[in-house]
Amino acid sequence: MIRTILIAAAVIPMAFALAESSVWDGVYSSAQAKRGQALYAKACASCHRENLEGHGPTPSLAGEEFRDRWDGQTLDDLFEKMQATMPADHPGSLSREDNSAILAFMLQANEMPAGDRDLPTESETLAKIRFTAAKSK
Ligand code: HEC
Repeated sequence: MIRTILIAAAVIPMAFALAESSVWDGVYSSAQAKRGQALYAKACASCHRENLEGHGPTPSLAGEEFRDRWDGQTLDDLFEKMQATMPADHPGSLSREDNSAILAFMLQANEMPAGDRDLPTESETLAKIRFTAAKSK
């Protein structure tokens, strides 16, 4: 009885840890990031700048400050912020597909590695990917 409880106590948190990945695990593809770059140039670069550094009231979307701002949140938090409020001059005008590609491009610009699958578009899946500023956490 005690043994069963001890095993369950050890295994259940492990299962949760496995279900979650981080932005350092290759969660987007290079082809998707490339598509995102073209979309970004059209819809976002006018304010956030081609190199994603932002300017004036527009924050950066790459670099240490950006990573620190989103540290510990999920990719769904970041994605839904984009989906609901961006581009600031036409909020909600992009499809989830397009925003997912743009987010892939942003991860690439933050030196997070590509993998062999596209970043998903569904909230539930994006919510399982943790955004961490540093690789080892
Ligand atoms: C007309 C100017 C403008 C355009 C175009 C624009 N943004 Fe923004 N963006 C802003 C401003 C200003 C803020 C800060 C206010 C806020 O967070 O809502 C911001 C904030 C953000 C944030 C939150 C950044 C943070 O770290 O808090 C993200 C992410 C973002 N924009 C992504 C995008 C994406 C992706 C696009 C293109 C689809 C885009 N923006 C287009 C002006 C713009």
